[in-house]
Amino acid sequence: MLAGRERRTILAGMPGASAYASLALDPVWAGHRLHARLGPTFGIDPPLKRRKRSRRGVFVATEAAAEQILENPARFHSMGLSPVRGPSGSAQRRLRDGMIRMNGEEQTKLRRAYAPGLAKGRICAQEDRLAAIVREEIDAWPRGSVFDARTPIKRIVRRAAAAMLFGADHDPEILAIADLLEQHANLQFDLATLIAPAMIPGLPYHRLVRHAELTEATLIDWISRRPPGDNLLTRIASVVDDEGSPLDAKAKAAQFWTLYGASFHTTATAINWCLLHLAWNPEVSRRLDQEIASAGRTTPFLDAVVAEALRMSPPVPFQIRRCVGDDCIDGIDVSAGDRVFISSHVMNRDPSAYDAPERFAPERWLDREPTAYHPLAFSAGPRRCLGYTFAIAVMKATLAEMWQTAHIGVPDCGGIGVRLAITQGPTRVPLLLQPHDTKGAAASFTGAAARQMSR
Ligand code: HEM
Repeated sequence: MLAGRERRTILAGMPGASAYASLALDPVWAGHRLHARLGPTFGIDPPLKRRKRSRRGVFVATEAAAEQILENPARFHSMGLSPVRGPSGSAQRRLRDGMIRMNGEEQTKLRRAYAPGLAKGRICAQEDRLAAIVREEIDAWPRGSVFDARTPIKRIVRRAAAAMLFGADHDPEILAIADLLEQHANLQFDLATLIAPAMIPGLPYHRLVRHAELTEATLIDWISRRPPGDNLLTRIASVVDDEGSPLDAKAKAAQFWTLYGASFHTTATAINWCLLHLAWNPEVSRRLDQEIASAGRTTPFLDAVVAEALRMSPPVPFQIRRCVGDDCIDGIDVSAGDRVFISSHVMNRDPSAYDAPERFAPERWLDREPTAYHPLAFSAGPRRCLGYTFAIAVMKATLAEMWQTAHIGVPDCGGIGVRLAITQGPTRVPLLLQPHDTKGAAASFTGAAARQMSR
């Protein structure tokens, strides 16, 4: 299985096909299993050889290899997250081809335009506004009865993004738009859409293409009616092409899709994971309670809890890149067209980087600053997530307010699954707000979500 001068395993033929299939079906845990068997970097040559060598896939889970790839976006192009292209000239293709799939100068120009709108100073200056939104939402949650926290958490993040990034607080339309974007994302990750990409009425693919048209038309209409202001919409409007002309309405809609769409699903998923990890580890939850009672949202322990949840359950558990030239990654040769799969989930549980990596131990971050690669949650390098400051601010504000408001319990709640659709998130987050003096026991749940918890 060792090819030429390469010193890492290259799976070919049936073992290659089987590894490809298992990674496609379960990229997180199949990645762990293959990594345990084959080491941190291995290649897969699928059996279908249309050219001299079929398109190679390389699995990567070391910091050095991830750094080589992520710090060099000119050699390793971003492919975006959506698997469905859509027909040529369709709204689906335009919305999919937003900023995350772009590469080169055109993409750099967009990053430069948007970065100030997501900069730390701008986010910190809005902390009180954020806290007020979070408080208002949590005040409306039920007390003393179990509810699924996913929808209320989603509302917090959507409102925070609307207000802080797009100057659109109290605009019910933007919350309805968020529903459209979410349905659009889900349709793209429906297996039936992927296996039958035919424009036949009734098929999920047809539904997706039509849904994309509706989404694009709705975004164009909404954007055209928004007043100017110091927010990301104005920044989208400020972008000009090579001839100095502004983006057309459809291109602006695709940019807005990327920015708003990237902001809420990811951040809400990250908060959901925090809640499950804290419920599973009541001693950590109690410490958070005490620390917040004495220092409020500025306690370093809150930062540590957030970093630890992102380490153990990164909402975006891998990044995929397309090679555009010849290179060698940790002993494996790659050439144009090959794909690289970086597993942050595996890297974040690497025993050479973290003591007892399977344990939820926020205290590990009290004397160690999180960096772009530790934990790897927002990607790294010149294409690192633009929204991480906003995401962390909303995560902290939500946890701080929840822990100040009540004791948080998750009772015995049976099985909780995990769904992978852009992000990997729990399928339920049962939550019970109780008076502060309640002595909480560890939550017990089973299923795929339990697999992510402390062991
Ligand atoms: C916990 C929440 C979040 C997580 C875990 C997360 C994670 C990521 C990751 C892993 C990438 C790289 C994707 C890739 O290269 O394949 C990314 C890119 C990006 N994220 Fe986030 N993100 C979060 C929140 C946000 C927010 C709040 C925004 C706000 C607009 C945002 C905007 C972006 C943008 C614009 C990119 C593309 C950057 C580029 O391609 O240059 N993200 N994010």
